[in-house]
Amino acid sequence: MPPLSARINLRQRSMPKPIFVLNGPNLNMLGVREPAVYGRETLEDVRRRTETRAKGLGLAVDFRQSNVEGELVTWIQEARAAADGIILNAGAYTHTSIAILDALTAAEKPVIELHLSNVFRRESFRHHSYVSAAAQGVICGFGPMGYELAVEAMADLLGKLDSGRRASKA
Ligand code: DQA
Repeated sequence: MPPLSARINLRQRSMPKPIFVLNGPNLNMLGVREPAVYGRETLEDVRRRTETRAKGLGLAVDFRQSNVEGELVTWIQEARAAADGIILNAGAYTHTSIAILDALTAAEKPVIELHLSNVFRRESFRHHSYVSAAAQGVICGFGPMGYELAVEAMADLLGKLDSGRRASKA
């Protein structure tokens, strides 16, 4: 039998970790920012509905927002050890940030890209996403409900990963 410290480590490694739900620049302005595009719900409203949906699926979420590109990069790096998956609305950094793409690639976690608006109905500079290259899938155009859809998709992805891992051990 391995020593107690090793057994505790083993148990900790298989403990479920939260899903990081990361929000980029200007998303703290939800509710007042271009309501015709982004709606009237605040980021706090969106956080509440995301957490409620996640709880119903047996998942924990760690919901954060930053206007600073480097802080988002640091959180994505943190996710490598501390999260089971990443749901990311990178705001305008979606269309500009190779640093965020590199961090997502290095994280080696399931990633879901998320946007409130349908970026493909908007200006052409919003049609390209660096995040997409590291994402399992993209949800856009469903407003705040997109956060709930992303949590559902993440639950499904993690379930498949877990059963794959169990099958490969059998
Ligand atoms: C956004 C779309 C981006 O193009 C924009 O810069 C945002 C928000 C969305 O949620 O629809 O800030 O990511």
